[in-house]
Amino acid sequence: MTSPKKKLIAGNWKMNGSLESNDALVRSLVAGVKDVDCEVAVCVPSPYLAQVQMLKSGSKLELGAQDVSCHASGAYTGEVSADMLREFGVRYAIVGHSERRQYHGETDALVAEKAKAALAHGITPIVCVGETLAEREAGQTEEVVKRQMAAVIHVNGHCISEIVVAYEPVWAIGTGKTATPEQAQAVHALLRKQLSAATGHAERVHILYGGSMSAANAASLLAQPDIDGGLVGGASLKIADFLQIITAACAQRA
Ligand code: PGA
Repeated sequence: MTSPKKKLIAGNWKMNGSLESNDALVRSLVAGVKDVDCEVAVCVPSPYLAQVQMLKSGSKLELGAQDVSCHASGAYTGEVSADMLREFGVRYAIVGHSERRQYHGETDALVAEKAKAALAHGITPIVCVGETLAEREAGQTEEVVKRQMAAVIHVNGHCISEIVVAYEPVWAIGTGKTATPEQAQAVHALLRKQLSAATGHAERVHILYGGSMSAANAASLLAQPDIDGGLVGGASLKIADFLQIITAACAQRA
């Protein structure tokens, strides 16, 4: 039996934004989420954490980062530690986004270590898993997402119920092609089952869908029993669209 937890909608701005455009977007978002009955976060580029922390102050909007180092401190040029993120009020950090796996060579093992570093410093990792189009067409979807998830479970043990998972089929990211609600639900269900084998609290884990989630398709995706929210890229930069997705999420309990 799934517990009636609140849905979580997390925006992933990726490498977008400016001081000026962030100001307008976050002010509208803060006003828009005032009375909503779901959880909302924005994962912003590191240089803007301080700005967004200030703009969101006193609101229910949560702040997220898009990556975190697996190291605590030291000679790791360009890296940002979980402790540093905490100093800016960061609650979530995306780890293992497919763009980082693809363009920055992040392995399953590294993603697992990043999740561990985040958890150790009070940040909830949003662990991304998902297959490429070639893998889906080869019938390997289940094998790929299970392998990615298993690495994170292996390293994080009993803490695993503290993470957020995002199923993001790579072929759906930024392409306008969305997984159908049934395709997404099937993968979410198998991830939930895999988590259940590792923790007695798998029902607590938010499993988000990501990949061209939009104002038009959010309600049908979020109506699925194992889809507990969304990780939203492009549409999170358009305030009207993002607020519509949030409204769709609030209309249902996860
Ligand atoms: P998209 O991106 O919504 O633009 O497809 C989602 C993501 O990559 O997190």
